[in-house]
Amino acid sequence: MGRQVLVTGGTGYIGSHTVVELQSKGFEVIIIDDLSNSSAEVVDQIEKITGIRPLFEQFNLLDAKRLNTFFQKYNHIEAIIHFAAFKAVGESVNKPLAYYQNNLISLMYILECMSRYKISNLVFSSSCTVYGQPDQLPVTEQTPKKEAESPYGNTKAISEEILNDVVKATPEITAIALRYFNPIGAHPSSLIGELPQGVPNNLVPFITQTAAGIRPQLSIFGDDYQTPDGSCIRDYINVVDLAKAHVVAINRLLDNKTKSRYEFFNIGTGKGASVLEVVKTFEKATGVKVNYTIVARRPGDIEQIYADTTNANKILGWKAEVSLHDTLLSAWNWEKKIRNIN
Ligand code: UD1
Repeated sequence: MGRQVLVTGGTGYIGSHTVVELQSKGFEVIIIDDLSNSSAEVVDQIEKITGIRPLFEQFNLLDAKRLNTFFQKYNHIEAIIHFAAFKAVGESVNKPLAYYQNNLISLMYILECMSRYKISNLVFSSSCTVYGQPDQLPVTEQTPKKEAESPYGNTKAISEEILNDVVKATPEITAIALRYFNPIGAHPSSLIGELPQGVPNNLVPFITQTAAGIRPQLSIFGDDYQTPDGSCIRDYINVVDLAKAHVVAINRLLDNKTKSRYEFFNIGTGKGASVLEVVKTFEKATGVKVNYTIVARRPGDIEQIYADTTNANKILGWKAEVSLHDTLLSAWNWEKKIRNIN
């Protein structure tokens, strides 16, 4: 029997890729997911990739009673990766309470249960959104945080503060927050990937859906930024590379290698790519043209951000490996698979 890890949100986009990497390293995974933004078939797909079926419990983390029953039943869990959260920036502006309730209370319940059921190790999904538009690039973990642009972003900033405070007051708990840059791409098997509901908000699913003919054209939000080609710059990180960072973080916790009981790391490639570069790289990788038009800037977008990954590289011993080209190809292969395109 491998060491048990609970993955909340384990059927979601990043969660599912992380479950695959954990299982391939011999961990025994238990997923909690309410399937509010994913499907039970993901469990079958994970089994197809790894040959192992993760344990799966379907419920919402705000169901405190059910959560307690869960921890009474599974009493060998050694670590938790907490992905389960709402993540749509625009929606969070219209439904702030739903975001604060869902994202913050679930974290607090998890932390409470960690104390109650003597689970010491937590990896938390944070975001580069905590930096806002930084004054200096690339951003290091010491770059000052800025006020959040959206309730969603604020839930990540507040969650980090909650972690910091709780860890200080609870000597048994150690936590690592991973600040993701922009996760993209899909598993090379094309059995799991991103499944946005409705019209995608994020760039790469919009590109793949446009290439697949589902959307007539991609709107590029602004080409008048102070960047070399005028479009915004982000640090696009391959989702499998990102998943592997979680395994590294779990091992660091289980091996008691942390230098403090609350650590946080930037998880990106260290390289910025502009929106136009992403479109061109996609076209080159896939041979498919993307119909696009330049439109006005999107409110709330920052001009550019990319990570300084020195700490992730040196302290965690992790680095991004898959190129933007191969990552975009994996996103396309996934889109083709789910749309039955040859
Ligand atoms: C967004 C969130 C971020 C969140 C992440 C979750 C904002 C300001 N930030 O990141 O907090 O963690 O999603 O996935 O919303 N673009 C286009 N056309 C499109 C879509 C996007 O030109 O149809 C451009 C955007 O202007 C941006 C880049 O592509 O420059 C990436 O956009 P997106 O994928 O939405 O990610 P972020 O906005 O960086």
